[in-house]
Amino acid sequence: MQITKASKSRLSEVDFDNLSFGANFTDHMFVADYKDGKWNDARITPYEPLVMSPGAKVLHYGQSVFEGMKAYKDENDKVWLFRPDENQKRLNISAERLDMQGVPAEIFNEGLFELLKIDSDWVPKGKGRSLYIRPFIFASEETIVASSSTEFKFMILLSPVGAYFSNDVKLKIADKFSRAANGGVGFAKAGGNYAGSFYPARLAKEEGFDQVIWTDDATHTFVEEAGVMNLMFRIGDKIVTAPTSERILDGITRKSLIEIARSENIEVEVRPIKVQELLDASAKGELKEAFGCGTAAVISPIYAIGHKDMLMEMSQKENRYSEMLKAKMVEIQTKAGEDKFGWTKQVTF
Ligand SMILES: Cc1ncc(COP(=O)(O)O)c(C=O)c1O
Repeated sequence: MQITKASKSRLSEVDFDNLSFGANFTDHMFVADYKDGKWNDARITPYEPLVMSPGAKVLHYGQSVFEGMKAYKDENDKVWLFRPDENQKRLNISAERLDMQGVPAEIFNEGLFELLKIDSDWVPKGKGRSLYIRPFIFASEETIVASSSTEFKFMILLSPVGAYFSNDVKLKIADKFSRAANGGVGFAKAGGNYAGSFYPARLAKEEGFDQVIWTDDATHTFVEEAGVMNLMFRIGDKIVTAPTSERILDGITRKSLIEIARSENIEVEVRPIKVQELLDASAKGELKEAFGCGTAAVISPIYAIGHKDMLMEMSQKENRYSEMLKAKMVEIQTKAGEDKFGWTKQVTF
């Protein structure tokens, strides 16, 4: 792999105490090009603008997929990744659905590990802080004929992020808009899925909500996922979460939390969840907690959920599962606790 180092680091220009999510990028990036039936020219270059044709297919047909993952620093300044193989596999699952060229594990891993080693000084240290990693593939062929591209770019960007101490959120259950449909691309991390969600999310914000809870497109009677998070509900002392499907992203945080919760002897049911079940549980005081889970926030507790003219408020104010599970997960990710599941991978030694 060819490595071209930045002539000067921008590290000292970044205010690590006031990082806004995804707004700062490290000194370097990884790039590889797919052309003539193979991935070529894997390289690390200084972080810089791309020169590309305005006729590149991605700009017209949105043929693009991405991943989101994080690197963490342990107390000895060693850098670690959390289940990176899952992101690599999911990137290729997304690429296949969008009829794009996937990236072999060797290219993904070599690019990722080398880039992280070069920019390891950018991995923030301390509770909840991390380096967000954005691998993505897009259609770079210069033609606006509406068919699959034969050329792609695979890139990895790194962005330091601060501790995600968000306030609890209030979400609105979708009863008109849909994010995904059967047979569609909902399970893929396709750029267009997010583009299509921004308008309904903005309308929900104007009504005083932070995000939308997506429901099944056919009936709007089953809750599915929210924004960039899968969802979990605590009904009584059980956690319930929807099964992943062709409409729902198979979140790595979700499946990790299911395992952690079960290992803490919390019962977890993976099954379809009706909106009506939440309304009934709420009326009986049994809807104790709801939380979103995803790479960005790990867990984002929800204090209220709106559905039409009803508002469900979560009854559990203390000793919440969300806090306990988040603490366990962060301990594993930052190597502050035992990783009995073998999920972490060391990057720098
Ligand atoms: C639509 C959607 N659902 C769920 C998630 C959570 O997935 P993960 O835990 O792998 O970050 C994400 C974020 O990646 C997402 O974009």
